[in-house]
Amino acid sequence: MSKKEIDWSNIGFGYVQTDKRYVSNYKDGKWDEGGLTEEANVVLNECAGVLQYAQTVFEGLKAYRTEDGHIVTFRPDLNASRMADSARRLEMPVFPEDRFIKAVEQVVAANADYVPPYGSGATLYIRPYMFGTNPVIGVKPADEYQFRVFATPVGPYFKGGAKPITIRVCDFDRAAPHGTGHIKAGLNYAMSLHAIVDAHQQGYDENMYLDSATRTKVEETGGANFIFITKDNKLVTPKSDTILPSITRRSLVYVAKEYLGMEVEEREVLFEEVKEFAECGLCGTAAVISPVGKVVDHGKEICFPSGMEEMGPVTKKLYDTLTGIQMGHIKAPESWIKVIK
Ligand code: PLP
Ligand code: COI
Repeated sequence: MSKKEIDWSNIGFGYVQTDKRYVSNYKDGKWDEGGLTEEANVVLNECAGVLQYAQTVFEGLKAYRTEDGHIVTFRPDLNASRMADSARRLEMPVFPEDRFIKAVEQVVAANADYVPPYGSGATLYIRPYMFGTNPVIGVKPADEYQFRVFATPVGPYFKGGAKPITIRVCDFDRAAPHGTGHIKAGLNYAMSLHAIVDAHQQGYDENMYLDSATRTKVEETGGANFIFITKDNKLVTPKSDTILPSITRRSLVYVAKEYLGMEVEEREVLFEEVKEFAECGLCGTAAVISPVGKVVDHGKEICFPSGMEEMGPVTKKLYDTLTGIQMGHIKAPESWIKVIK
């Protein structure tokens, strides 16, 4: 799709090929110089590590057009360090964090025309990722890897944007204790595909995963962490070693405390407590904050008082403050915003 044809206010969360992407290869124990390319296709040996044993990790962040016309990214240093953690867990070489940040910057600058206009509701989604490229047939890590970053303009992750969604408690597990739930590995998403297709077939927008050891605690969804608001306006968010450490969630905790003066509890959240909360939301780069209106547990409905029409009032304040910081009309904490141009 040519950028001229994009109806920014009506795009969904999908892939649109942009002009340039970044590629660097790892061979003989080191990363090459890397650089931008127009080639969007990847050619791999049939036995590449990623194809056989799913040795791949990724990240997701966004570039925003600010009110005063700049293009910025939000906390890319945290994506760089999380990707390093993910790589280490899958026995992959770390792509240096400073180079990760520079590669993101280069890709955004090279595709600046695809950064949606301020106020359109759309953003440029950036996808850094890396994977094992050389033939691997015995189960072991690859010796050669490719790191890439591409960008694609996106709209809301859930159709309907800020309209509350309905989710179900999922009978499938997402992450095992001591497994890989805390990293951003493709394998975590592959194994969630059956659960999400099944949820959609049953009429639900997403899955609420519980901890797989006891099935009593709230974990996260397939692509976002949870936030809950108590009836006395506290922010409660699940703490678990088997969920992804969401950058959005960590930022919201700070925003709630420091900007909105709220009390915050990061702790285990029992599913039993969910019915007591006033508001519920999913938070993540793609999800931003997507309000949840209803959770269905095997036919039993939990309807939050905030209802199915709009975001609850406290969620809305958090949403407005976070997006205000990202779009540049609320002053950001030191080092959160990286100006690209
Ligand atoms: N949880 C999962 C499983 C995710 O895939 C994501 C998306 O990155 C998140 C949470 C949210 O993380 P972040 O806010 O860093 O995008
Ligand atoms: C993100 O929010 O960046 C993610 O990777 C989530 C994914 C489900 C799109």
